[in-house]
Amino acid sequence: MDNRNCKRYRDEINKMELTLPAISVNEGMARAAVAAFCAQLSPSPTDLADIKCAVSEAVTNCIVHAYKHKKGNFYITVNLYSDKTVRIEVLDKGCGIADVRRAREPLFTTDAAGERSGMGFTVMENFMDRLTVSSREGKGTLVVLTKRLGRKTAEEE
Ligand SMILES: Nc1ncnc2c1ncn2[C@@H]1O[C@H](COP(=O)(O)OP(=O)(O)O)[C@@H](O)[C@H]1O
Ligand SMILES: [Mg+2]
Repeated sequence: MDNRNCKRYRDEINKMELTLPAISVNEGMARAAVAAFCAQLSPSPTDLADIKCAVSEAVTNCIVHAYKHKKGNFYITVNLYSDKTVRIEVLDKGCGIADVRRAREPLFTTDAAGERSGMGFTVMENFMDRLTVSSREGKGTLVVLTKRLGRKTAEEE
């Protein structure tokens, strides 16, 4: 999706695709796999922690919300670009989101059990450079997370 933006990232240097069932054990699996793949760009510990957090929130949403009423997979694609940009797609074919704008508001949650904070999208937005969310009710949701990795600080070298 959104090939127009790829020019900005210059050349794609590597790509990973991962399909996993939307079950809770795969939240940690997806987070670790994406982090391991991104390691080749030598991210700072802070950048890596940010990416792990954002992926964790996106995948948790697939597991907790998208497939509440049926079983299914989620699909992750990670593109790495020569200018140290990381682009991560998290796709599900679950229930979709009726009102994306509202869902992205801080503290908004449809979780009636009171276990969720409603801060998932806010975390993704704050920890990455860019977040796009496309969704169709009954069809699924695509979350795209983009971040250009910074240089390591002196402390992190
Ligand atoms: N992949 C998804 N499929 C269906 N609904 C989703 C998905 N991701 C998010 N949502 C909806 O958006 C709301 C806000 O998500 P989020 O900010 O992560 O907060 P939380 O998960 O704590 O409720 C969720 O409560 C849910 O209704
Ligand atoms: Mg969430």
